[in-house]
Amino acid sequence: MPFEDLVHVDDCCFPPFPPLAKDARKHLEALRDMKTREDDVVMITFPKCGTHWVWEIIVMLLQGKAEYHPLTREHVFLDLISDLSALDKLPSPRVFNSHMPVRWLPQEHFRSGRKVVNVIRNPKDVAVSWYCHWHSSNELGCGSVSWPEFFEEVVVGQYKNAFGGYFNFQKELYRAVKANKEYSLHTLYYEKLKKDPVSEILKLAGYLGVACSGELASNIADKCSFRNLKDASDNTKDHGEIAKAMKEMGRELPKFYRKGEVGDWKNWYTISQNDRHDAMIKQGMEDIDFDLQLIYEI
Ligand code: A3P
Repeated sequence: MPFEDLVHVDDCCFPPFPPLAKDARKHLEALRDMKTREDDVVMITFPKCGTHWVWEIIVMLLQGKAEYHPLTREHVFLDLISDLSALDKLPSPRVFNSHMPVRWLPQEHFRSGRKVVNVIRNPKDVAVSWYCHWHSSNELGCGSVSWPEFFEEVVVGQYKNAFGGYFNFQKELYRAVKANKEYSLHTLYYEKLKKDPVSEILKLAGYLGVACSGELASNIADKCSFRNLKDASDNTKDHGEIAKAMKEMGRELPKFYRKGEVGDWKNWYTISQNDRHDAMIKQGMEDIDFDLQLIYEI
């Protein structure tokens, strides 16, 4: 049955990434207690918000040149790595990434005010992108699940707590930052990055504390355009880590670079689905006490 392999922890559920399928609580506790270095960056993103894209941008900014890292972001995807101590061998600076709620991320990293980056994308494009990801890779048996079924089960239904749920995920993060003055966080919006990549890249460079000329920002924007990143992912990048994990889970390698647009949700949502999701979003936004912009078109 689709979705039956989801791993449930507290009020959240997650795909059965190997360390989570083996012993989710053990992995999450190890992740929470993981030590980081002064110059590590942790990306905390809700799935499908543009993690791959921004990971590549951060890596290029930190290395000061618009050249692709030979590996994909999954080699430092904390949710997927069974032996976190293996990360000790990696050279600095490391750009970790995770879709876990903040309570499970390395607490020392946050308490020490180290760099953290989140990417926000509107929840309707997220839902469509997520469906296409799980459908194309047959994750959780989704190869045979239709968009209307996914909408009923995951967007508004019994699995809407996947990864904590869109709004809970953001609320937990921004409230933790608000309550702990030492925490540091930079937020990017997928839609703003799409509209004006150079200025968003320059702002990100400012946050990371790295020098970046307009020319470098423009070269990074070009190298990290949807078309160029897709090409690099298809032809030059080593997908070793994720390919191994997918094989273990009996899945295909997902299509991470699908369409890369703002507003594709309009091609998928029926009027009724849109009304129902709008009602849910309205409810999710009711007690938002931080800046959360939902941008549906550019
Ligand atoms: P779509 O499925 O809508 O195309 P994540 O990396 O968090 O899994 O997010 C994946 C989404 O980001 C996919 O959205 C993917 O196509 C999109 N994406 C990746 N690189 C992009 C880029 N350079 N420009 C725009 N969108 C990009």
